[in-house]
Amino acid sequence: MAHLEASIAEMNLYQINNAPRKPRILIAASGSVAAIKFSNLCHCFSEWAEVKAVATKASLHFIDKVSLPKDVTLYTDEDEWSTWSKIGDNVLHIELRRWADIMVIAPLSANTLGKIAGGLCDNLLTCIVRAWDYSQPMFVAPAMNTFMWNNPFTERHLMMIDDLGISLIPPVTKRLACGDYGNGAMAEPSLIFSTVRLFFQTQGEQSNSTTANT
Ligand SMILES: Cc1cc2nc3c(=O)[nH]c(=O)nc-3n(C[C@H](O)[C@H](O)[C@H](O)COP(=O)(O)O)c2cc1C
Repeated sequence: MAHLEASIAEMNLYQINNAPRKPRILIAASGSVAAIKFSNLCHCFSEWAEVKAVATKASLHFIDKVSLPKDVTLYTDEDEWSTWSKIGDNVLHIELRRWADIMVIAPLSANTLGKIAGGLCDNLLTCIVRAWDYSQPMFVAPAMNTFMWNNPFTERHLMMIDDLGISLIPPVTKRLACGDYGNGAMAEPSLIFSTVRLFFQTQGEQSNSTTANT
């Protein structure tokens, strides 16, 4: 048994619902300028996990689609509507929510943060969040100008999403894309990846030890 668990780990597979497979990560971008790092972020995850990507309309101004990993499909609001034509067809945001083990929103814009906090769902990304099962992990990495980050709305909205069980990967202080210096820059893709991976591994080890003790 220990031998089997070791070889599963070597293959980068995890026991999920009693089946050895890679984690399924849904990575979503909203319209912060830090979305220029989205492709890099997808590359960080794509070796370790099965990855699907979601982008808001605003984030598409910053994402270089050509540099995304070849095996990562990028879904947009247009796909939400073009894949549905009649009753009985799959609804994309529900299918993606069903598929994913973990959702990571990086970057998280001030606008999408506010919408999530208020339960609004007017695009593919926020519909997935609105349908999410909060016993499953969701991580967000906000990115915004310091004026926006320090605005009183941010704290209120962060408290709301914390209540839902969403994990915050906090922004960092540095020179921002607009030239200002301050807090609000998205955490580096490598840090976002290591945070999620460590969480997943720790959770897996805990559930293994619970199973072993029963
Ligand atoms: C050049 C440019 C850069 C922007 N950068 C940011 C940003 O870093 N963070 C942020 O929260 N909003 C930023 N915005 C504003 C968002 O793009 C805007 O609020 C948009 O509606 C977000 O939509 P979304 O949340 O659906 O992606 C920027 C806008 C522009 C034009």
